[in-house]
Amino acid sequence: MAIYGAAVGSGHYLKEIMNSLSSVHFHDQSVALDDHGNEILSGLMARPRSLSPKFFYDEKGSELFTEITRQPEYYLTRVETSLLRKHVDEISELIGDDFILIEYGSGSSEKIRILLDSLRPAIYAPLDISGEYLAQAAQALGQEFPWLEVHATCVDFTGEFELPFNSQKRRVSFFPGSSIGNFERHESQAFLTRIRHLVGETGGLLLGVDMKKDITVLNDAYNDERGVTAAFNLNILAHLNREYGADFDVESFRHEAVYNEQKGCIQMFLVSEKHQKVSLDGQIIEFQAEERIHTENSHKYTVSEVEAMARKAGFGKIKTWRDDDGLFGVFYLFN
Ligand code: AVI
Repeated sequence: MAIYGAAVGSGHYLKEIMNSLSSVHFHDQSVALDDHGNEILSGLMARPRSLSPKFFYDEKGSELFTEITRQPEYYLTRVETSLLRKHVDEISELIGDDFILIEYGSGSSEKIRILLDSLRPAIYAPLDISGEYLAQAAQALGQEFPWLEVHATCVDFTGEFELPFNSQKRRVSFFPGSSIGNFERHESQAFLTRIRHLVGETGGLLLGVDMKKDITVLNDAYNDERGVTAAFNLNILAHLNREYGADFDVESFRHEAVYNEQKGCIQMFLVSEKHQKVSLDGQIIEFQAEERIHTENSHKYTVSEVEAMARKAGFGKIKTWRDDDGLFGVFYLFN
């Protein structure tokens, strides 16, 4: 899953894919590569240095993320999936029928497959930053569910955007995988409020959130033994080399992920293993040995923190499902 929509791939290739299935439509609202250059440079020059996690999700990064979700230590996807399977009928009854289902950061559209037969939305509208990955996933979904109308949109949905098709039907949003955790806390609040406006009084939001828990379990989830999370983190530098003409020596950086108890989040960094210079867009960036680039925060919540955020966003009713160990929560927020 990618929570952001990226400027990765566009044009003829996507149109050809999408035209091959009449019920699958592709909308490209991605930003030109140039518009990201300044953001990348200013993050790398700032102290502390940082890169937005949206740059994880080129095609390779999206594949690596899917691989992360299959690692034994990364319980999030496994537990959320089993919660969705277990409670699909109840979820479906609460949501009702004749609605548009909008998924934020749909990635490989894996989780929606669990819900589709039961939910039977009129339109499925996946949003993702990784264009080609999204296009392929939408096409596969269209083949698997021929009755389903799909409107896939390549977009960075962390900013303002409009749904690129007309329909007066009720709107229900789906934001699984605890991607909400990748926002800062104040951003999550703002995001939930935006979704509440989008779905209105008659819609709702099905939300997956990773819960606060034993620190060892959390640290292990972001330091898997096979090193897939490390490869995912390091791929952000390879992505900058491929798409933005940087010359990072990827091998001379290492992955670091650690739970910050005060902030209630896993923080990921890339650590420079030596003193080195990197060039990007005509600028030289100098790294001292052991200097870090912050790449991601993954916030964890308690049930009451989620409830407080939901109420503040304007959702009056909340239904919560959790696993027996309280690792993960699925919430339906509505009115
Ligand atoms: C997408 N997001 C919810 C993942 C997370 O757990 O914060 C991204 C991730 N980063 C490292 N592993 C997975």
